[in-house]
Amino acid sequence: MSDPKSDTLTEAQLAVHWKEESYYYPPASFIAQANMTDGGILERFGEKNFPECYKEYADLLTWYKYWEKTLDTSNPPFWKWFVGGELNASYNCVDRHLAENRNKTAIHFVPEPENEHIQHITYQELWVRVNEFAALLRDFCGLKRGDRVTLHLPMTAELPITMLACARLGVIHSQVFSGFSGQACGERVADSGSRVLITADSYYRSGILLDHKKLADIAFDKAKEEKVVLEKVLVWQRHPGKYSAQTPLVQGRDFVVNDLLPKYRGQRVEPERMKATDPLFLMYTSGSTGRPKACQHSTGGYLSYVAGTSRIIQDIHPTDVYWCMADIGWITGHSYIVYGPLALGASTVMYEGVPNYPDAGRPWRIAEELGVNIFHTSPTAIRALRRAGPDEPKKYHYHFKHMTTVGEPIEPEVWRWYYNVVGKGEAAIVDTWWQTENGGFLCSTIPALAPMKPGSAGPGVPGIYPIVYDDDGKEVPAGAGKAGNICIRNPWPGLMQTIWGDPDRMTAVYFERYCKNKKSKDWHDWPYFAGDGAVHAADGYFRILGRIDDVINVAGHRLGTKEIESAALTVPEVAEAAVVAVPDEIKGRVPELYVSLKPGVTGDEALARRISKAIETEISPIARPRKVWIVPDMPKTRSGKIMRRVLGALSTGGNAGDITTLANPDVVEKIRDLVSRG
Ligand code: PRX
Repeated sequence: MSDPKSDTLTEAQLAVHWKEESYYYPPASFIAQANMTDGGILERFGEKNFPECYKEYADLLTWYKYWEKTLDTSNPPFWKWFVGGELNASYNCVDRHLAENRNKTAIHFVPEPENEHIQHITYQELWVRVNEFAALLRDFCGLKRGDRVTLHLPMTAELPITMLACARLGVIHSQVFSGFSGQACGERVADSGSRVLITADSYYRSGILLDHKKLADIAFDKAKEEKVVLEKVLVWQRHPGKYSAQTPLVQGRDFVVNDLLPKYRGQRVEPERMKATDPLFLMYTSGSTGRPKACQHSTGGYLSYVAGTSRIIQDIHPTDVYWCMADIGWITGHSYIVYGPLALGASTVMYEGVPNYPDAGRPWRIAEELGVNIFHTSPTAIRALRRAGPDEPKKYHYHFKHMTTVGEPIEPEVWRWYYNVVGKGEAAIVDTWWQTENGGFLCSTIPALAPMKPGSAGPGVPGIYPIVYDDDGKEVPAGAGKAGNICIRNPWPGLMQTIWGDPDRMTAVYFERYCKNKKSKDWHDWPYFAGDGAVHAADGYFRILGRIDDVINVAGHRLGTKEIESAALTVPEVAEAAVVAVPDEIKGRVPELYVSLKPGVTGDEALARRISKAIETEISPIARPRKVWIVPDMPKTRSGKIMRRVLGALSTGGNAGDITTLANPDVVEKIRDLVSRG
């Protein structure tokens, strides 16, 4: 185990010495058109109107039946929202827009190859495609309400079409990021108990058409090892009519969707009347212990929350062209590429490839061509685009009214480039802090109502009451200049309902730490523990410092140190493994791995490469360590605990602190020597 206390301390010290930034005010042109200019919202969503305030979000949706109870707290911390209400997410994101906006673009799909045409999928076409695919899922696969289906789909239009087809039937989708390995996908198939896997033959990344179908074969075997046998694997073709993977199809198990679809032409599927409390999807994420866990998100609460925050914080109007450059394989994409924007009837852009392919001007060409006016991305992408083409944005005639940053802390200097160069000084920026577990934004400024402060997310969004606690459960008040653990005092509709198959973990990880009374059914006794360090400034803004647990945020992707370590331990020569997070100019943080070997084994570059490869195979290339250090022994406490803090200091050239209490202090010098030689 790492020592979270000492990690927090370092971050806290850093934060306290961090200069307070000055405000930037939203442009008048933005305010003039903004969805939310009424300061009364803060009072409407204040504690005395809680939880009924959330009706304002739920009323953005079309309900078959209104709810009877807004919030049921009878089984803490498994809160239930909009109890008794009925709705369908697919209906809300597609059907209901037909009357007025049938011919409007719902999804602009931008292929990575620049010579391939952009697809503009109207709401009408989306409706047809979702219906036909839903009919296929129902009739060919026998899928029905409550079944789980794993999706391992890349960023093409078939991904949201598949999600919405599942939602239409009440089938719970579980999309696994396409960059995850076949093994990682197989584990998630098994954990969710999926009978069907939906994948694609191939997709483009950095100019290469990748064989994606081969990962399905690995996923199938991995799930089988875990006693879950997939009945069918559905394969979408990247180029309809042409199978473009090298890996052959498995007879009787793999089916090409594009070949099957003609049978369902013209079919329409009545959307299922789902309960507000029925699950809509699962999304896996990494935690401190064990394997990734699936956050189960609800239909009514989740959809209300993402629609409400898309309107107020993202300022999405039905006339906007909105581009979030995340991958739909992450929660950001679910909430703010698919469900939020489509619930509001906007045009949402999805881009298949990497941002700087073939060059750093690509995003700005896309923005110009499509008339994108809302742009949403991560600090990692901003840093990379800035490094590769600091003057590129100037060359293009796009205009953003609004920009978002999400996923990691953004350095004020990077923020200013985003504001001045990408946004041309014309756009309001929101720095949105939240998590996979949360469904939607937790902290951010309301863009027309509050000034921006580079590097700070802002106060809690309407209806969210954050608080910073110290390790002893005492509140660290605003303006104290001290870091602590950020928590949310109240329930909110976007919060996951549970961890799929492991409700105890929900309680243990997020609520036990600061629960005031485990017997209480009053939500005030159950603050949600986010796992992030934060500083609460005197103006009420929160600056998020990063994880205080064993989670590393690499380029905005969440990875558990334990997951990477277990992957390293699959290499037979490895005796012990410890991961530390080190700063990286582009990715924010990257993992470095320390391993010690079994007796009698000597390490070399080839072994280090094999260890890296094992991590890619077990998890994904995004988890690949920047460096694998093969060390004679791990620095350990007398009780045998590996001191990751000491390793972290060695990796960054920092001060290893007091090492005299270690069981083997000598090894620290040996490792320092090794690391300094590179
Ligand atoms: O550490 C916080 C960081 O990302 C973590 C959540 O990661 P994930 O569940 O993958 O969701 C990412 C997208 C919502 C948080 O615990 N994080 C997220 N947003 C910010 C952030 N750190 C600083 N500033 C943010 N705006």
